[in-house]
Amino acid sequence: MTRHILSVDQFDRTYLQNLFDHADRLRHLPRSSQRSRLSTSILATVFYEPSTRTRLSFESAMARLGGSVLSVENANESSSATKGESIEDTARMLQGYADAVVMRHPEPGTPERASRVIDIPVINAGDGSREHPTQALLDLYTISNELGDIDNLNIAIVGDLKYGRAPRSLALLLCQTRGTQVTFLAPPAVPVGDDIKQALERNGVRHREATSFEEIKDADVVYQTRIQRERFSDEESYERSRGYYVIDRSVMDTLKPNAIVLHPLPRVDEISPEVDDDPRAAWFRQAENGVYVRMALLDQLLG
Ligand code: CP
Repeated sequence: MTRHILSVDQFDRTYLQNLFDHADRLRHLPRSSQRSRLSTSILATVFYEPSTRTRLSFESAMARLGGSVLSVENANESSSATKGESIEDTARMLQGYADAVVMRHPEPGTPERASRVIDIPVINAGDGSREHPTQALLDLYTISNELGDIDNLNIAIVGDLKYGRAPRSLALLLCQTRGTQVTFLAPPAVPVGDDIKQALERNGVRHREATSFEEIKDADVVYQTRIQRERFSDEESYERSRGYYVIDRSVMDTLKPNAIVLHPLPRVDEISPEVDDDPRAAWFRQAENGVYVRMALLDQLLG
């Protein structure tokens, strides 16, 4: 297992089980015991795209473990990338300043490029529309925590399946599960990619595409996602996909009483706030789980 975290392809069931067990252990440790684990380590978070959850939950995780954080937000505007510095040179500098780097970049493959020239772990915090591996880890951890299992589940993935890196990474991670039925529900302009369907087929995961919420009413997990406005070439195309599949009270009424609804967040209008108080609405618990999963990841990489 490489020390870089670049793609969900790297994770197998043993890795997932160990990580989830470790996240459970860490979250229940007293704060004083958490703080002693990485007290000499430094984490750099370098984000060339906006973020609330990923950057802050990594930083919260590192702070809880007693480590220090160097943070560059808006790196596309505030770092020396604006002067033309290459990602390789930036990475070589970071290696001298920190013990691990968390990087988000709009260009697919950029964290991997950084990882090729340095020895400290590089963690992909989202590279364009390609991957968001630590999001998929916390998504599956949430499913495990909420439902007690990651196998034999009926999982519906909804929304922007063309540009959304979170649903792509989750779908790929589901290749590690057993007895799963995946149903994709996407507006016509942003369908799931053939590469995802082929990966599921290679791993024996059943999948189908639906065109209405009615077809996913038996889901155990509904994973809703935002239409990725920033990836569309024009506003008109975005508007055609926006608002296509919205989860509101009437949709919640069709779902099973023991289903859960997840969303990687941020949401715009694809989940109505009127359902936030439904016990099946797990998206804020999911976001909090990001801290525990990232604590476990950092502790394993740097401890
Ligand atoms: N889920 C997620 O990646 O959120 P942020 O863009 O706020 O980091």
